[in-house]
Amino acid sequence: MKYRKMNKIDATISSLGFGAMRLPTLGSDSQIDEPKAIEMIRYAIDHGVNYVDTAYGYHGGQSEILVGKALKDGYRDKTYLATKLPVWFVNKKEDMDQLLNEQLKKLDTDHIDFYLLHALNKESWQKVYNLGVLEWGERMKEKNLIRFFGFSFHDDLDTFKKIIDAYDWDFCQIQYNYMDVDYQAGREGLLYAYNKGINVVIMEPLRGGRLARPPKDVMDLINSYKIKRSPVEWALLWLWNHKEISTILSGMSTLEQVKENIEIADKAEVGILSQEELEFVEKLRLAFLGRKAIDCTQCGYCMPCPYGVNIPRNFFLYNEGIRYDDWGAPRWEYNYSMREEERAGNCQECGVCETKCPQQLPIRELLKKVHEALAQK
Ligand SMILES: NC(=O)c1ccc[n+]([C@@H]2O[C@H](COP(=O)([O-])OP(=O)(O)OC[C@H]3O[C@@H](n4cnc5c(N)ncnc54)[C@H](OP(=O)(O)O)[C@@H]3O)[C@@H](O)[C@H]2O)c1
Ligand code: SF4
Ligand code: SF4
Repeated sequence: MKYRKMNKIDATISSLGFGAMRLPTLGSDSQIDEPKAIEMIRYAIDHGVNYVDTAYGYHGGQSEILVGKALKDGYRDKTYLATKLPVWFVNKKEDMDQLLNEQLKKLDTDHIDFYLLHALNKESWQKVYNLGVLEWGERMKEKNLIRFFGFSFHDDLDTFKKIIDAYDWDFCQIQYNYMDVDYQAGREGLLYAYNKGINVVIMEPLRGGRLARPPKDVMDLINSYKIKRSPVEWALLWLWNHKEISTILSGMSTLEQVKENIEIADKAEVGILSQEELEFVEKLRLAFLGRKAIDCTQCGYCMPCPYGVNIPRNFFLYNEGIRYDDWGAPRWEYNYSMREEERAGNCQECGVCETKCPQQLPIRELLKKVHEALAQK
């Protein structure tokens, strides 16, 4: 295992961190297969992983309890423990104390090493900022209930920069992988945080697993390269090649994945990839990007739709399904996260949007195709 010394703070962490969000289950997401999950976490720690990341809500609230159990028998002392404040449950100051106390109990520990405000976006940041979350964090540090204070993030680059500028954070956690260089915080956000001396932890290094099982044409490209590496190895080495990254969290769901990723992490050096190899990863990225069925540039000129259809989002989700040959996440968002009026199925075929689309897309026809592919059958 390779380690990276964090900037400013007294912590040297393993280049691979264990993300406890995709643990093995016995069916439903909240029924964690305890023996298997504990075996995986302890195997990882026995082989050098010293950073375990969980959150209040993972596995229906069971992940923290499981991690607490896995870290018994001396494992807690070998581990930096990270968990997150569910900011969506914070509506008044006292909620923060109450949630942290609950988490300490669930994790059966007297302190959290890395404590994050979970999944900040424009609105949630403003809300907790107004409630004095920064002063609260300082107080929790003084009380030694948390050691390092940070946030995880899912919104646009401007919002990321604003949050970074608002406080002298110990660390932050962003979604980053070779497909997401221009998405959310992206590469610019990574450099922005790093140049301000803020440690960056990476989540979704395999884009939630999609980069681990590429569609056939991308896989053929990987197999055709002179150096033989698995899709996972390419994706992780590409990340570890960055000096700006402190650790990569992998949400491993089997012991085999833990073993494979630990083996790859032995090579986790800055500069491990040559210029030619970096160019090859860029080719992989372009191959994924080329797999796009609808030529929507996400410009938004077609909006607003008088009936509330979110045209660019519908096309984005459809293209994601085609790009990764994986419909799980797009279908989930379409059916459970989008409002009904936003969905492609709500198009009333008035045609207003088509007069405004610079790509001259047949939006009405395409929305029918999207609905057919994404709506719950
Ligand atoms: N704070 C936040 O807002 C937030 C959001 C997302 C994630 N996170 C944290 O970051 C961690 C990492 O994110 P992530 O879980 O999305 O990571 P990820 O590495 O992008 O995706 C994890 C998935 O990749 C696949 N995988 C991993 N190693 C593999 C291997 N060796 N071979 C084949 N497939 C492999 C598995 O898919 P299968 O299970 O399908 O096999 C696994 O479930 C999470 O676990 C969580 O702790 C935080
Ligand atoms: S055609 Fe459909 S998506 Fe386009 S503006 Fe009319 S209702 Fe909205
Ligand atoms: S105007 Fe056309 S290209 Fe732009 S977001 Fe709408 S559908 Fe996509």
